[in-house]
Amino acid sequence: MQEIKPSVSKRDILCAETVAGPGALVVFGASGDLVHRKLLVSIFRLYQQDLLDDRFYILGCGRKKFSDEDFRSRAAEAVLESSNSAPVDDLDAFTGRLYYLDGDYSDADFYGRIKAKLIELDKVYDVHESRVFYLSVPPFLYAAIVDHLGSAQLACASRLDSVGQIRLVVEKPFGKDLQSAVKLNDSISRCFGESQIYRIDHYLGKETVQNILMLRFANTIYEPIWNRNYIDNVQITIAETVGVEHRAGYYDSAGALRDMFQNHMLQMLTLVAMEPPISFEADYIRDEKVKLLHSIRPFDLGRLDDSWVRGQYAPGTIDGKQVKGYLDESGVRPDSKTETYVAAKLFVDNWRWQDVPFYLRTGKRLAAKDTEIAIAFKEVPYSMFSSVGLDELPANILVLQIQPEEGISLSFQAKRPGSKICMSTLNMNFSYKSIFSTKMPEAYQRLLLDCMVGDQTLFTRQDDVEVSWRLMTPILQAWQQAQSQPHQYAAGGESFAEADRLIERDGRKWRKLLRSGTSTQSYEI
Ligand code: BG6
Repeated sequence: MQEIKPSVSKRDILCAETVAGPGALVVFGASGDLVHRKLLVSIFRLYQQDLLDDRFYILGCGRKKFSDEDFRSRAAEAVLESSNSAPVDDLDAFTGRLYYLDGDYSDADFYGRIKAKLIELDKVYDVHESRVFYLSVPPFLYAAIVDHLGSAQLACASRLDSVGQIRLVVEKPFGKDLQSAVKLNDSISRCFGESQIYRIDHYLGKETVQNILMLRFANTIYEPIWNRNYIDNVQITIAETVGVEHRAGYYDSAGALRDMFQNHMLQMLTLVAMEPPISFEADYIRDEKVKLLHSIRPFDLGRLDDSWVRGQYAPGTIDGKQVKGYLDESGVRPDSKTETYVAAKLFVDNWRWQDVPFYLRTGKRLAAKDTEIAIAFKEVPYSMFSSVGLDELPANILVLQIQPEEGISLSFQAKRPGSKICMSTLNMNFSYKSIFSTKMPEAYQRLLLDCMVGDQTLFTRQDDVEVSWRLMTPILQAWQQAQSQPHQYAAGGESFAEADRLIERDGRKWRKLLRSGTSTQSYEI
């Protein structure tokens, strides 16, 4: 199929980007892995693209004892590691804007030093209390840090005209169930207002996830068929090849439901299923997402196995290499019941979606890294080709390929040249890589810029977090009380029997991971 190439000029006309104003980014957990691998590199890319003001600096705060120089050279190292031959010309000028303070997060004196340093650097950079505080620390520290920011009077600007320029970014997970999320929010909101709080779900920063809104609401052709009259089912998959890696401490007390499902999976579901917002503004979009979450049918706890499956990876082979099972990973409790795989069947009770199943699955140590949303349309109501033996024609499937091969494809039946009746299922493909020559920006690039310019569209609001925890908490509790282990699945597999049963019971199948992008099936007479 020929690919659609938008003309360059058209593409440029449709672009709008806001540049961040003068300000400081204050990062807690600055010596940690996320800051090293993602944040600093993303900020550097924004800097290179002139999306940051000249009056901008970063203050890293952490427990490790680093000098400004140590922090700068670590940042330079992270950028170089990630650059893959991308230019790094401005690196010295960038790292010159980085500063570091070490201290103990529970010590009030640390926040006094932070405040003094910010006042000093604000003068150097001619910045007026415009600050983003970024919490890249383990969640149990959130409340204490926020309290100290409040006590040190760092949570709001001292001049009234600057109010709202001080923002707080909180990494996921936001709480570990409904009760803890409410409690955490209560303590944060003693110091910060909702309009200052940016709760990160990095999936919302992915280009392909943002594109769900463009696809649905910047085109007319999808909306008339985006409902129960035309759609048979929706499948959302996040499959990973990685295991628990070095994060067992966190992961073993979280599991896939908290780590991926309550946030990334449900966020993608809301974008696919919500009603059209009245405008591309943060709260209008977030209102629709919350409304959608409210419409998810509560689960029958007495029959949980009808709609939920949990699994845990056993030893297996990935890319030809033997890998350990979850229980053998270092830091995992030997009798852990933590799930590394979750599959679920959800229904959305509203006019648009009544009785359309949404099948969602996410797991670690699977055969391929593959995140996609597949909209499976209904089969033709009647095959006029049955007289020549073609009774069953495959349904059309629209696949939003979120990663790694970002794109969109639509399958359809077409006549192949040749004998009189000869059809194939073809795919009309759009690939980001082949159309847009630039590398896909890191999700964090988008999110950091948005919190610096004060755009909350891609951040989750407290009511969103609470509704999703309200849905997930009973499942978590039921699994906690269950005596049984999660089902074991061999690392490196596509799926496993119990997960297959969840969908096959309804006469459907999971889509295969990592398909080829071209014609998959043909039949002829
Ligand atoms: C994180 C989870 O939020 O997302 C990780 O904590 C997971 O466990 C990661 O591996 C997946 O992100 P991505 O962008 O690689 O799909």
